[in-house]
Amino acid sequence: MIGQSLAFVKITQLIDKIARCDAPVLIEGETGTGKELAARAIHDGGTRTGHPFIPVNCGAIPDTLVENELFGHERGAYTGAQSKRNGLIAHAQSGTLFLDEVDALTPKAQVTLLRFFQDQQYFPLGGGVARSADVRVIVASNRNLTQLAEMGEFRLDLFFRLKIMHLTLPPLRERQDDAALLATHFLQECAARFNRGAKTLHADTIAWFGKYSWPGNIRELENLIYREYLLADEPILNIAPLEPVMVERRHKFDRRRPDLSCLNFTKAKNDAIAKFEQYYLAEALTKAHGNVTKAASLVGKDRRAFGKLLKKHSMDKNIRDM
Ligand SMILES: Nc1ncnc2c1ncn2[C@@H]1O[C@H](COP(=O)(O)OP(=O)(O)OP(=O)(O)O)[C@@H](O)[C@H]1O
Ligand SMILES: [Mg+2]
Repeated sequence: MIGQSLAFVKITQLIDKIARCDAPVLIEGETGTGKELAARAIHDGGTRTGHPFIPVNCGAIPDTLVENELFGHERGAYTGAQSKRNGLIAHAQSGTLFLDEVDALTPKAQVTLLRFFQDQQYFPLGGGVARSADVRVIVASNRNLTQLAEMGEFRLDLFFRLKIMHLTLPPLRERQDDAALLATHFLQECAARFNRGAKTLHADTIAWFGKYSWPGNIRELENLIYREYLLADEPILNIAPLEPVMVERRHKFDRRRPDLSCLNFTKAKNDAIAKFEQYYLAEALTKAHGNVTKAASLVGKDRRAFGKLLKKHSMDKNIRDM
């Protein structure tokens, strides 16, 4: 893991300590801050290294399947379950199970997980006999679990159990000294992978990297560098700054949490559509580095219609076009 800022050094020291204790871990942090990388570092730094590290995105598994995926089922557990199937927890035996987007777990799966923490035992679907597994569980969330637990959306007892060993990764804007360092690291990776020669960053680019708010954090920086490296003909990359106006709007949209401060359905729906449009436009513009024509073509809209949408949301100012 790359970084020299004080915030990052503290995190790596904590990772070293956590790696040596064999207990469940909670990793919080905004999207793209390196939660999965930290989970892998904890796994690799402990006694379970050499055994499986199994990452699972809980948010990507439908509610009805999540227990089946994690804990498996016995033969005949439900119509179509013709043979016994092991869950991911069994596949992670002696190693680590990494549950990403843990806030998406159903209440029932949360209970099973809590019980597993108590005695390392679980029940596959349709099974009356408990199974045991020697597995370290690391969970991650980019939503605030404290708030979710307070609102009753996440089990409080499970939250307290997880909170014992807990790590919050700082967003890139709070470790801004690291942006240029990380960018250089990604450029070296690109050079090794794509064989298009070594490239460096222009001083102007380094300067705005240090001030930009990086809403997508390290993943956003990584994607930007890969794209620019592949497109550049020159050995020095001078990347035009991304627009802060888009960033502000992007922060406010969360597809999973409707804002119920206005309870009128039609108004709430129109509000959600407007927020979605702003978010979507900002994403497209960011991907296209602020080039409206390119952004429109990326999302399959013509330049005029895209421009109209930008105007509707007052996002047409300060945007350059080439
Ligand atoms: N300190 C770091 N040094 C080098 N690369 C990093 C570092 N932190 C993150 N990355 C890279 O940034 C990308 C995003 O990291 P990762 O997938 O771990 O983030 P995440 O917090 O799990 O994101 P999400 O919330 O979207 O799941 C990865 O490609 C990872 O390799
Ligand atoms: Mg992740």
